[in-house]
Amino acid sequence: MAAGKGTRLKSRHPKVLHRAGGKSLLEHVIAASTKVVAAEDVYVIVGHEAERVQDAVSATGVRFVVQREQRGTGHAIMVGRDQFSAYDHLLVLSGDAPLIQSQTIEKLRDYHLQHHAGMTILTAEPVDPTGYGRVIRRKKGGKASDEVAAIVEHKVATAAQLKVREINSGIYAFDAKLLFGHINEISTNNPQGEYYLTDMASILVKAGAPVFAFPADDAHEVLGANTRAELADLDAFIRRRKAADLMANGVTIYFPETCVIDTDVTVGPDTVIDPFVQLIGDTRIGSETHIHSFNVIRNCVIGDNVLVQSGCVLEDSIVGAKVSLGPFSHLRPGNEIAEGAHIGNFVELKKTKLGKGSKANHLTYLGDSAIGERVNIGAGTITCNYDGFSKYPTVIGDGAFIGSDATLVAPVRVGKGAYIGAASCVTEDVPDDALAVGRGRQVNKEGWAREKRDKLAAAKKTQG
Ligand code: UD1
Ligand code: CA
Repeated sequence: MAAGKGTRLKSRHPKVLHRAGGKSLLEHVIAASTKVVAAEDVYVIVGHEAERVQDAVSATGVRFVVQREQRGTGHAIMVGRDQFSAYDHLLVLSGDAPLIQSQTIEKLRDYHLQHHAGMTILTAEPVDPTGYGRVIRRKKGGKASDEVAAIVEHKVATAAQLKVREINSGIYAFDAKLLFGHINEISTNNPQGEYYLTDMASILVKAGAPVFAFPADDAHEVLGANTRAELADLDAFIRRRKAADLMANGVTIYFPETCVIDTDVTVGPDTVIDPFVQLIGDTRIGSETHIHSFNVIRNCVIGDNVLVQSGCVLEDSIVGAKVSLGPFSHLRPGNEIAEGAHIGNFVELKKTKLGKGSKANHLTYLGDSAIGERVNIGAGTITCNYDGFSKYPTVIGDGAFIGSDATLVAPVRVGKGAYIGAASCVTEDVPDDALAVGRGRQVNKEGWAREKRDKLAAAKKTQG
């Protein structure tokens, strides 16, 4: 169910597209669902900003049911009746409860099938049950049983019912025949005037079908995000779980609570992650690599034994083994840095290939460049790749030496083993093994400075 607006988030964007752990809430729920059933058997009920929500997740191969007017969770299931009645059983998940794990959904399904239940409700006892529907169990012989009498929404619960700690997760298994045989009995007789799917519990009990409560092993898994504060809690939980998972697999993370690591990031064993590191999106990091503090790494593949010193921003780039980056390097999208290369402080690269063992250590911009192996790029080198209309390539051959403060005006090619004199402005191709010098010749005027000083001092004296 992902049709709701999410009024309590006070947002212009649909609730289920808000993100936690680097993915939208809905993407998390779909990821867990498609581990349990085939994507084509997963239906996302969309409504509020249906098209945007659909576009955001259509690549997963799930199907969609459109709930034009959002008249409650019961109504959401009613509008999918045609599609859903084709199945024997239905698993219902909430698009705003992203922590749910596929193993828990499977356990709920198995319990539901084994008990021949009409409805099985995944329940939990979170530290703070405020806002959730409460699960009222049936008493048998004076004791609470596994069967449920009703779900009571927080808003309409009595003081005694509010004391119940067991909450409805909004995640259920249904016998489809029983569900659709009785779904029209849901009324809008509640403060919000909505069709509550939760009413199915008491409706099915009345119809003589068993309704079970199935407690989740971990109460965290069912937490939902109705407010920004809850969203932040879920995000923190997902990040903690991710860091714990990486550490269990041999990654050292110091002060993990300061690191932001997205759900799909992978990191090899014996890699060390210092405090305040962000690993975002589709990022893969090798083993024995060391990421110092204050790095933001997005959609990058980083090899083994790489050193990333502090303060780098790395995006959509591939970094080979034994590379050294930073401090303060910036990889904009589209770079490939080969094994053993060095990129130092205040060096920016865009769409650039840097060959094996090549070095650009200081204050440099390299854009749209193909640079060979063992090339030395001197401090302050700039590729002038843009003329205000188009971008042009710079090609530098193996073993070339680019003197400091060179400007390479693209399109331009520097041959293998060539030298570029410091401060040269290179506008023409340089042959292999040549020296190119493109700058004004130095002139020394003997005694000029002394004479100038003497003149100025004399003038000051006469002024008094
Ligand atoms: C719901 C349950 C509550 C439970 C809680 C768990 C009901 C009436 N209450 O409350 O017992 O403790 O979840 O998180 O079901 N949605 C639609 N169409 C609609 C309305 C909602 O698709 O017409 C979707 C929402 O987008 C959301 C999900 O259903 O993903 C749950 O709706 P929400 O309004 O968040 O329900 P809660 O108030 O949290
Ligand atoms: Ca909710």
